Amino acid sequence: MIAPPDDIDRIMTVMEQAFPPEFGEAWNRRQVSDALCLGNCRYGLIAPDGTEDLLTSGETAGFFMSRAVLDEEELLLFAIAPQYRRMGLGHVLLKRFIQSAQDGGMSRVFLEMRRDNPAGVLYAAHGFRQIGLRPGYYRTSNGARIDAISQELTFHN
Ligand SMILES: CC(C)(COP(=O)(O)OP(=O)(O)OC[C@H]1O[C@@H](n2cnc3c(N)ncnc32)[C@H](O)[C@@H]1OP(=O)(O)O)[C@@H](O)C(=O)NCCC(=O)NCCS
Repeated sequence: MIAPPDDIDRIMTVMEQAFPPEFGEAWNRRQVSDALCLGNCRYGLIAPDGTEDLLTSGETAGFFMSRAVLDEEELLLFAIAPQYRRMGLGHVLLKRFIQSAQDGGMSRVFLEMRRDNPAGVLYAAHGFRQIGLRPGYYRTSNGARIDAISQELTFHN
């Protein structure tokens, strides 16, 4: 899915604010645009009012990026900008991602997150369940190790 430069700007604006720097999870612009040049990656944006209509508000509240291989889709990045959190936008965007994956014929979506990320509560609310654990997989900027948790949601199309 090729993204217009404006949309990459929108993704990067949220990216730069949303991910705590100590975990090194944010991608740079090059990584985002290279990924989106691959035919199997896609993204979604959300406006502060929960719609996809970014032209009316001019602001972007959040985004997701994902990669599909055959009938499985990985949620690579998912973020809501700090000033728009705890308003339900994460729920709306995740629901939209899941629905679009299912509509696109996926049988399963999956992701990996660091243990104790508050996003885990959101994923659980949408039916994701843990399928794997990699002890100490992530290393923070101060050298601490954090487990990686793999989660999946399967569809019974
Ligand atoms: C995770 C994230 C996307 C949630 O976005 P959000 O718009 O605040 O989510 P919502 O308002 O829809 O809340 C969804 C639920 O997630 C949970 N949740 C979200 N943030 C939370 C927090 N800081 N602490 C505890 N639970 C939290 C709650 O259960 C919440 O539901 P509730 O408000 O009804 O209790 C956002 O915090 C974020 O961008 N974090 C940084 C990036 C990141 O870590 N992404 C996930 C990578 S795996």
